[in-house]
Amino acid sequence: MEYATLSNGIKMPMLGYGVYQIPEADTERCVLDAISCGYRSIDTAQAYHNEEGVGNAIEKSGVPREELFITTKIWIANAGYEKAKASIAESLHKLKTGYIDLLLIHQPFSDYYGTWRAMEEAYKNGQLRAIGVANFYPDRLIDLCQFAEIAPMVNQVETHVFQQQQTAHAIMQKYGVTHQSWGPFAEGRNGFFTNGVLNEVAAKYNKSAAQVALRFLIQCGVVVIPKSVHKDRMVQNFDIFDFKLSDDDMAKIRALDTGRSLFFSHYDPATVEFLTNMGKHA
Ligand SMILES: NC(=O)c1ccc[n+]([C@@H]2O[C@H](COP(=O)([O-])OP(=O)(O)OC[C@H]3O[C@@H](n4cnc5c(N)ncnc54)[C@H](OP(=O)(O)O)[C@@H]3O)[C@@H](O)[C@H]2O)c1
Repeated sequence: MEYATLSNGIKMPMLGYGVYQIPEADTERCVLDAISCGYRSIDTAQAYHNEEGVGNAIEKSGVPREELFITTKIWIANAGYEKAKASIAESLHKLKTGYIDLLLIHQPFSDYYGTWRAMEEAYKNGQLRAIGVANFYPDRLIDLCQFAEIAPMVNQVETHVFQQQQTAHAIMQKYGVTHQSWGPFAEGRNGFFTNGVLNEVAAKYNKSAAQVALRFLIQCGVVVIPKSVHKDRMVQNFDIFDFKLSDDDMAKIRALDTGRSLFFSHYDPATVEFLTNMGKHA
């Protein structure tokens, strides 16, 4: 495993396992499978409604808690100091753990400064080992970095070969924020797994398009958390540390960048209305 060192010195695996869209009933099995394949970093969120499944797997895995790296996220509905504080206690309870390795603000909406103060407090009292944000575009990220007492250590944003976030990455580097990808396969959109360039490069290394796409992000210094409910794919996605893409192949994949989202943009008012409406409900 390769690791990113966060600004507070904490080490975070460069590869983890994401559980978005995994039903609560399947989550325990999936996370146990992932842990048996070697994954030690697990990414969930209050909004995924499967923190308890992750907690059950943590408990049943038999892996010492300090060897795992658990991430969850505070949803918009829990924004503000008091609600965020209560939601941290609830996440700890559901995850069956005394501490969370990384807690993120899921979306930069509602009273996220209040949320951040609750997170800073929980960080100082040892309930959180690291704190960060998700979906903070450069404007919101710079604002928080400039005014928060403790700057975010991670920013998790849509990042894959078609949306490489090169500008945002440079800003994260400037502020000492580790860049984490969500949707490293763009959830299969845009013909991801059959892309000609990815498959042509993959053939050279006897790897798959998925493996090359993950390896590319890691070599760009981006932490990845691919999701799969299939164990054979979990194994495949984990098997990316025995090869290195050449500069030429990195350049070929760099050229796939469209600089555009395949999901949504916070600069689109309709998206913001949709997300903030969702955030009014738990
Ligand atoms: N912060 C946020 O707002 C945010 C948003 C989205 C996601 N996330 C996090 O990022 C994680 C990853 O993103 P994601 O789940 O949206 O999508 P993703 O990892 O880009 O793609 C997952 C899809 O790819 C398929 N897949 C996985 N490995 C494959 C392989 N080797 N070959 C072919 N198909 C493969 C999966 O199918 P099967 O499951 O059927 O194998 C699933 O349909 C999430 O689980 C979540 O933890 C965060």
